[in-house]
Amino acid sequence: MIHAVIYISKADPGFSKGEVKEMLLKAKSYNRTHEITGCILYHKQQFLQLIEGAEKDVRELYRKLVEDNRHHEVTTLFDESSGTRIFPNWAMAFYEFEEEEDSTAHTRLQLDQILEQATISEGNKEAFGVLERSAERLLAQGQHELFNTVRRLFGD
Ligand SMILES: Cc1cc2nc3c(=O)[nH]c(=O)nc-3n(C[C@H](O)[C@H](O)[C@H](O)COP(=O)(O)O)c2cc1C
Repeated sequence: MIHAVIYISKADPGFSKGEVKEMLLKAKSYNRTHEITGCILYHKQQFLQLIEGAEKDVRELYRKLVEDNRHHEVTTLFDESSGTRIFPNWAMAFYEFEEEEDSTAHTRLQLDQILEQATISEGNKEAFGVLERSAERLLAQGQHELFNTVRRLFGD
């Protein structure tokens, strides 16, 4: 049984795009070794990440992630067993959306392209629903607003 964790967080202001990409190179290699898959979206200094794999491995990584000071206010949106993997072929797909306010159609298209890569099954459709809704909010709203809304809906 695959375990999935989805969270949002705010990037540290000092965590540059270059550093995010570099961090993800290491992350992918770790994820491959531990058979962890998923995706990470980055928009307006916020992360939305899905991590999926064996429960033990997912928990171990999530513990490290929560303590990582390159992001903060890590808020868990989903933490449950999830049937099958949503992104079985991605060690960690990374998407960074355009920052421009007028690029809504473009970012919407990008999001659709990501979600089209998903392998949705009966078992993982709940996790997928949380991912999809959260990704839509990530793109639709300003940073502050989004965070409070998602917190209200899913947060602890
Ligand atoms: C937003 C974000 C996403 C991350 N995603 C992953 C990931 O998917 N896999 C991974 O191994 N590390 C990821 N990391 C890095 C981990 O937090 C941590 O630095 C890494 O597991 C190495 O930890 P260690 O040096 O204590 O072993 C991420 C960090 C951040 C800030």
